[in-house]
Amino acid sequence: MPHRNISYRQLFVVLALSCASYGNYLGHDELERRQIDPGALKTAYDYIVVGGGQSGLVIANRLSEDPTSEPSHMLVLVIEYGTFDNNPAQLDPTSGEKYPPGDLFNVTAVPQPGIGNRTGTVYAASVVGGGSTINGMLFERGSAEDYDNWERLGNSGWGFSQLLPYFKKSTKFNTPVDPAVVAFGNITWDPSVYGTDGPIQATYPPWVWPGTKIQLKAFNEVGVPTQFEAAGGKSYNAYWVPNNVNRTNYRSYARSGYYDPVKSRPNLSLLLNYRVNEVLFSKAKHAHSARIQARGTPNGAPTITVGANTEIVLCAGWLHTPQILQRSGIGPKALLTAAGIPIISDLPGVGSNLQDHPPAEIRFSYETDVFPNPTSSAQTNATFAAWVQDEWTQHRSGPLSIPTGNNIGAIPLTTMNPTGYKAIIAKALAQTPAAYLPKTYTAEQLAGFVEQRKILTASYQSPTNGIFEVPFRGSGSTALCLEKPMSRGTVTLQTTDLYAEPIIDFNTNINPVDVDLTISAVRFYRTWMAAPSMQQLSPAEVSPGTNLTTDAELSTWVSTSMGTSTAHSCGTAAMMPQKLGGVVSPELLVYGVTGLSVGDISMIPLIPATHTCATVYAISEKAADLIKARAASGYP
Ligand SMILES: Cc1cc2nc3c(=O)[nH]c(=O)nc-3n(C[C@H](O)[C@H](O)[C@H](O)COP(=O)(O)OP(=O)(O)OC[C@H]3O[C@@H](n4cnc5c(N)ncnc54)[C@H](O)[C@@H]3O)c2cc1C
Ligand SMILES: *[C@@H]1O[C@H](CO)[C@@H](O)[C@H](O)[C@H]1NC(C)=O
Ligand SMILES: *[C@@H]1O[C@H](CO)[C@@H](O)[C@H](O)[C@H]1NC(C)=O
Ligand SMILES: *[C@@H]1O[C@H](CO)[C@@H](O)[C@H](O)[C@H]1NC(C)=O
Ligand SMILES: *[C@@H]1O[C@H](CO)[C@@H](O)[C@H](O)[C@H]1NC(C)=O
Ligand SMILES: *[C@@H]1O[C@H](CO)[C@@H](O)[C@H](O)[C@H]1NC(C)=O
Ligand SMILES: *[C@@H]1O[C@H](CO)[C@@H](O)[C@H](O)[C@H]1NC(C)=O
Ligand SMILES: *[C@@H]1O[C@H](CO)[C@@H](O)[C@H](O)[C@H]1NC(C)=O
Repeated sequence: MPHRNISYRQLFVVLALSCASYGNYLGHDELERRQIDPGALKTAYDYIVVGGGQSGLVIANRLSEDPTSEPSHMLVLVIEYGTFDNNPAQLDPTSGEKYPPGDLFNVTAVPQPGIGNRTGTVYAASVVGGGSTINGMLFERGSAEDYDNWERLGNSGWGFSQLLPYFKKSTKFNTPVDPAVVAFGNITWDPSVYGTDGPIQATYPPWVWPGTKIQLKAFNEVGVPTQFEAAGGKSYNAYWVPNNVNRTNYRSYARSGYYDPVKSRPNLSLLLNYRVNEVLFSKAKHAHSARIQARGTPNGAPTITVGANTEIVLCAGWLHTPQILQRSGIGPKALLTAAGIPIISDLPGVGSNLQDHPPAEIRFSYETDVFPNPTSSAQTNATFAAWVQDEWTQHRSGPLSIPTGNNIGAIPLTTMNPTGYKAIIAKALAQTPAAYLPKTYTAEQLAGFVEQRKILTASYQSPTNGIFEVPFRGSGSTALCLEKPMSRGTVTLQTTDLYAEPIIDFNTNINPVDVDLTISAVRFYRTWMAAPSMQQLSPAEVSPGTNLTTDAELSTWVSTSMGTSTAHSCGTAAMMPQKLGGVVSPELLVYGVTGLSVGDISMIPLIPATHTCATVYAISEKAADLIKARAASGYP
């Protein structure tokens, strides 16, 4: 039976304290319209969505929408640790490169032996709308093979053809506003792979740096053809990517698309500045309530218990979904025992299988760059700089309308390293899996990794899947991002303080195959810079430097240059069969219990070769349908 163990008087004190922190942005009226105050919490809801980030808002919207076939009058509560970011600048494209510290968890990874023992950068959003509120707005999908690989891992229903309807449902494509820019960039698109009225808008900006065209042509010259619409499952080779902004270049994100339009629904409530501590279970291991605590209160401070009549959906992101599971008694037995937590379901995969796209910064300068260019024109030419400002303030157009860029090369390994890829694959397959995996991996998890490796090495020889990402927009420098790493990391509860941030270990480059792949990418980048069309820009290598040529030299460079994250962390509550170390089923239900599912990026079993935002919309749209379907068919 759900109960409260805090008085209303205490609650109002807590509310008053927490309001003070965002009073700058929110007037009292607005607060009341958008947010429920903790004193108004009901004893129980039908659904509790844990985390009002990107996926949480999608699921909350769909569960509270007009019922056609599902039970009506479902009450949905979203509990979010962060608050609204109402800073108008956060809607501008330039916000895509300046992540506000107030909207992020302040955490770092432990020292990473694979990259010279440097500590790793960690990105985990903490704001209504989550990652979609602060991200770079580069809005692309993976190739069909990325999702078909999920299905190959034992997840029926998750191949690209079954996900495409959800990619579409979440989007609306806008024809670019400036035909001259379309013609200049030869930007093409296929409206049939987007939705016509989805909540999230996909738009090309009214500006293209001329150097981009030269880079695209140079790609074509070194065996990387242009893909004339990548979003239909063809995001490999070189292609254009829209941004998630609307037609006047304002951020289009989970809050604007999925929350603001429906916030007046009486059956949808959003509680801010509360942390979900644990999910609580009945004797029959049914998840029946969530224990929550006001943000900023110390360990042992009062908590509230809110009931969930139907289901609790975890959407707390890759970092906290596994932490909440572990705190609730679902996770690796040894860890839970060490933390003194009674075991509800021994799932060793909770917090393992962490993947990201580690970036290595490569730098070339263009000695005879075109004008205008993104590297120096605004710095060296005051007339141009003034025009850029003017274009933006008067028309929301020009270079400042681009968030992070619109072109990507996603290069197959067979293109990057045609003579060496077979040796890399052979090396990967010859490894003893346990040699490079976290020491905590069980036999099931090792078996799961062997399955993943089979699929990954097939992708390493596929011409239709990118193994390295080369984002480009007219500059000679970029971050080479490893799209399909072999290394696996962990998120682990601190056994001495369950409410402290968990221990994060990406294990970046711990598997030497990842280093081989990165060296292949560096050499291929040099080949690209040597392409005939590129010569008009006179590219000069700055880093690694032309004197670094051998595998050993480049390997040292990789270990000093590679980072841990492109903010695409995922995989920590993976959808895989339980006998392969999985945490959730293809219905996204957590193994060993009932009434509990995962709807966020944690469920990804293998990281796709793409920026992850569009994929998270598709996952959470599908998650909502799965949840509705089981409600309609009646629970066991
Ligand atoms: C800085 C940054 C830049 C990015 N750039 C791009 C890009 O350009 N293109 C792209 O495609 N993708 C990008 N991404 C990735 C993409 O935005 C994320 O993968 C996606 O938003 C993840 O969605 P999610 O719902 O899984 O988690 P999130 O959106 O992170 O939501 C999790 C939410 O849960 C809340 N929460 C956590 N713990 C608790 C708790 N205990 N109780 C209650 N609430 C809790 C958090 O406050 C957060 O709001 C970027 C991400 C970041 C962070
Ligand atoms: C939620 O409330 C809205 C607005 O009153 C209503 O249209 C919808 O049917 C309700 N949905 C559910 C699932 O109860
Ligand atoms: C992270 O630090 C910033 C200050 O730099 C703070 O405003 C923010 O609340 C912190 N984030 C969290 C989730 O505590
Ligand atoms: C990293 O740390 C480990 C353990 O302290 C040490 O053995 C190793 O030499 C260090 N590596 C580098 C490159 O400093
Ligand atoms: C422009 O796009 C079309 C595809 O729509 C393609 O056939 C053509 O070759 C492209 N032109 C250039 C110069 O890239
Ligand atoms: C884009 O979004 C902004 C901010 O929400 C809004 O003011 C503007 O009207 C929108 N533009 C279009 C064309 O929808
Ligand atoms: C400086 O910018 C102006 C405006 O774009 C342009 O006309 C001019 O040619 C530029 N000067 C140089 C030296 O590039
Ligand atoms: C390469 O050249 C750089 C710059 O001249 C120098 O600092 C570095 O030591 C050289 N490295 C090797 C391995 O020769």
